[in-house]
Amino acid sequence: MTGAARITADGWGWRYAGRRLPAVRDVSFTIEPGERVLLLGASGAGKSTLLAGMAGLLGGADEGEMSGDLRVDGAPPQTQRGRVGLVLQDPDAGVVLSRVGDDVAFGCENLGVPASEIPGRVADALDAVGLEVPRDHPTKALSGGQKQRLALAGVLAMRPGILLLDEPTANLDPAGVVEVRRAVEHAVARAGATLVVIEHRTAVWADLMTRVIVVGADGGLLADGPPAEVFAAQGAELARAGVWVPGAAVDLPALAPATGGVALLSARGLAISRDGRMPVRTGIDLTVPRSAATVITGPNGAGKSTLALTLAGLLPELRGQVEAASELAGRRGIRPSRWSSRELLTRIGTVFQDPEHQFLARNVREELAVGPRAAGLDDAATARIVDELLDRLGLSALALANPFTLSGGQKRRLSVATVLATGPRVVVLDEPTFGQDRRGWIELVRLLQEQILEGRSVVAVTHDDDVAHHLGGQRVALDPVDDAAEAA
Ligand SMILES: Nc1ncnc2c1ncn2[C@@H]1O[C@H](COP(=O)(O)OP(=O)(O)OP(=O)(O)O)[C@@H](O)[C@H]1O
Ligand SMILES: [Mg+2]
Repeated sequence: MTGAARITADGWGWRYAGRRLPAVRDVSFTIEPGERVLLLGASGAGKSTLLAGMAGLLGGADEGEMSGDLRVDGAPPQTQRGRVGLVLQDPDAGVVLSRVGDDVAFGCENLGVPASEIPGRVADALDAVGLEVPRDHPTKALSGGQKQRLALAGVLAMRPGILLLDEPTANLDPAGVVEVRRAVEHAVARAGATLVVIEHRTAVWADLMTRVIVVGADGGLLADGPPAEVFAAQGAELARAGVWVPGAAVDLPALAPATGGVALLSARGLAISRDGRMPVRTGIDLTVPRSAATVITGPNGAGKSTLALTLAGLLPELRGQVEAASELAGRRGIRPSRWSSRELLTRIGTVFQDPEHQFLARNVREELAVGPRAAGLDDAATARIVDELLDRLGLSALALANPFTLSGGQKRRLSVATVLATGPRVVVLDEPTFGQDRRGWIELVRLLQEQILEGRSVVAVTHDDDVAHHLGGQRVALDPVDDAAEAA
């Protein structure tokens, strides 16, 4: 079968094994062939679960319990996998092979597309997404935005009847966001496929979409209709439910920009590197002032995360030094890269770009308690901190859940909370608000503002201009690094 596919849900729901409440409950809709749907809802409302259901990825009885009915072209999604192209949120997770051409061909090969047909499909797909690199270009040399387009090309080459995209522009720089949106628009127009996109920041997508469907956190749908009509009629209600309604301002004061101030960390003539050999950037001079934010911005591949990890003492300096103020010094001196993890705990806390990198415990509550316990707090003090963070970040109901089973936004909030739990003097965060609904975003930004007002330093890597605006402080804007040097 070719052409765009139809998706129908009739009282559909899914409860993951091990969870008491269903992730999705009682959802009904028909998505007609060729419709372009923006799928919205609060963090944890079940958007990714719904997409996984449409892609036929929700498994048997051991993985959970299905209710109602979900169909692609009238058949169960598990039998229609070749019709459905799913691009997951994490672009790295989608890259399978080391050469661009092979990676794009991979899905076709799995589907059993005749070998003679594949090169033409690969060329078409690369053209549709505008990825202009040689077929044998190494996939690991691609930037985040390019990887996202690579993943999209791999799915398009399979010529699916539906394209399902889960937060396709999270973690992309503003130029990458525009590129990916354009690639999707172009590809869908050419392939005539049905499109379903999950994205918290709706402004980029709203005008491309013919319909929005908003999943309710307690089941059912909160809204379903043309974007302009839904946002006009139900904007305030949806904003309260956590949806980023285009044009609805965030009611939160912004901290002032800062100049100077007492430095807690300083770096001079710093060269940073991932592998201890190849410099990513050189000649960096900067100080991290007390009681202020340092917001690091710049395009994908500019070295923001490498700089953050180096300031945090987790990557050794290639040249030059990061030095802490004497008030922050540890037993092993003033260079964070020489401190033990225990010394770092209350001095510099780091939230990685990928939240899963830091989960250690078997449930959310224990995860939050690891740091305070290691820092020597007693049970009562630990419980107080843990309870407050659970409550503020909307994780109380998930206290006993396994951290790896959380939704994308829930994982991010937990990873920020685990670091704040030990009250480090400097908090370094890589994309602290990605994947957040409106409520989660406001609460995270508020927590970071409190850190600053309490005298701590917040170092945040972000693509989100609103985060930069609300945190105030100083801006460190990294310009792009030369691609040739990066790929070498
Ligand atoms: N593998 C899993 N096992 C158990 N529970 C899960 C699993 N994946 C998700 N959940 C839970 O199901 C609910 C819905 O999660 P889902 O990932 O679908 O939400 P979402 O709307 O995509 O959220 P976000 O915007 O944060 O990505 C959440 O409460 C989540 O914790
Ligand atoms: Mg999700």
